[in-house]
Amino acid sequence: MRKLCFPVLLITLAVMAGIAAEIQKAFDQPFRPQYHFSPREHWTNDPNGLVYFEGEYHLFFQYNPFGDEWGHMSWGHAVSTDLLHWTQLPVALKEEDGIMIFTGSAVIDSRNASGFCLANKPCLIAVYTGYTPPKGSRPSLQTQNLAFSNDRGRTWTKYKGNPVLDLHMTDFRDPKVFWFEPAQRWIMAVSLPNDHKIRFYSSTNFKSWSQLSDFGPAGAIGGQWECPELFELPVAGQPNRTRWVLKVGLNPGARLGGSGEQYFLGDFDGKQFINDNPASTTLWTDYGKDCYCALTFNGLPSNHAPVMIGWMDNWQYAASLPTSPWRGQMTIPRKLSLRNTGEGIRLFQEPVDSLQQLRSEHVEAKSQSLDQINREFQRSHIAETHTFELTTSMSVDAARQIGWRFLHQDGSMTAIGYEREKGTIFIDRTHSGLIGFNPAFPSRMEAPLKIAGVLRLRVLVDRCSVEVFADGGRIAMTSLVFPPTDASGVEAYASGGRPGPSSATLWSLKSTHE
Ligand code: FRU
Repeated sequence: MRKLCFPVLLITLAVMAGIAAEIQKAFDQPFRPQYHFSPREHWTNDPNGLVYFEGEYHLFFQYNPFGDEWGHMSWGHAVSTDLLHWTQLPVALKEEDGIMIFTGSAVIDSRNASGFCLANKPCLIAVYTGYTPPKGSRPSLQTQNLAFSNDRGRTWTKYKGNPVLDLHMTDFRDPKVFWFEPAQRWIMAVSLPNDHKIRFYSSTNFKSWSQLSDFGPAGAIGGQWECPELFELPVAGQPNRTRWVLKVGLNPGARLGGSGEQYFLGDFDGKQFINDNPASTTLWTDYGKDCYCALTFNGLPSNHAPVMIGWMDNWQYAASLPTSPWRGQMTIPRKLSLRNTGEGIRLFQEPVDSLQQLRSEHVEAKSQSLDQINREFQRSHIAETHTFELTTSMSVDAARQIGWRFLHQDGSMTAIGYEREKGTIFIDRTHSGLIGFNPAFPSRMEAPLKIAGVLRLRVLVDRCSVEVFADGGRIAMTSLVFPPTDASGVEAYASGGRPGPSSATLWSLKSTHE
């Protein structure tokens, strides 16, 4: 028995090792993210259809199966059991009959409300925008459509009765659907981009939808409104109090130009969204340039923190990013919460807990001067991998500016700093390495941040990105960077006065492709 099996075992192991080496090679080009999702090849933009179903997190994404530019939009597909190690599966929803598959969401139909589920088992329903390009004198068309899967998202069938919503409009897109328990109905939030409105519909069977109400214009109204998202969150420290978060993407016309996202806090009663703040209030989800069309997971167990993933990019320069054979990637999945701040309730974002499992080697400095910290860090090679995490708390004291320089080499570096007098935190990538591929790329991004003397930062670096979570997630800032290959340093700095002691830990993060 053993004699027979041994060669088979050896061959199997050799094949597996070969496959593992291939996968690693497929994900080891310059700038290739090591713990953020990027497709093996080709173009991606928005995350779509995020849903947790039967032990798997599904990430669908806007995908061009034929190249690294936007086009032939389809839903790519990847699954994970920890939100970090993703296995890319075949394309889920393909362009067909000239109709592209634009952004949308996915839900679990556990009671066969749709009539699409087999053998009384729950099935997955995707609700997406179908886009028909213009032809001759006929303008383009955007409608809402359904597809379903009875095999855990592996294969999909488009509903024969599509579209389920057609307003004969060229701009009407990005349906976010979720189950609203009190009314026992599915709710859809969908964008009327040029009107700066989000329209709400409800349904009991996915096939017919009743119009409920419109929200907007309000807040920032530059460009078009896209990618709405509506979800309820508990307010930390206030038992039984929840608020609804209505998140809306804008492109172009966001704070820093190009794409960006705002959110409204309020109430949703199953019919309409009522803003807690005056229409003139604008709250931004992310103060960097590179987090767009973020979506939360449907189907999470009730004890699971809500999780959101965004496209780590900006339409201003997405088509010219210097990466190959893929273009586009996702943010780190972020755990969401609402907390009271001096300015009112705000949305907090932090990396999901599973990220800690990727931590390996580390170097730590506790309550030391910045010089001591730098000496300690210089002895380590952690930063050379461009795949690391920094957690730090810095006592600002008399320093006018305090922060960190990352990925530096011969004058290029990315700076993250705090300006005490202005009360702002910034990421400066104007000297971050490769910046000339698009004039809109070099930039200094700034966010207002009031702190009580101590700057607390968690920074994730993953080859071509820097994500900053400041003050426990109060401010999120996401930025792509393309540093020189041999850039390595992580260095604390202060100017304009003496800072107090600081603590910092630098973690090496394991690649999820290994
Ligand atoms: C946002 C967006 C969506 C649209 C999709 C098309 O990035 O413009 O509104 O559905 O991309 O790829």
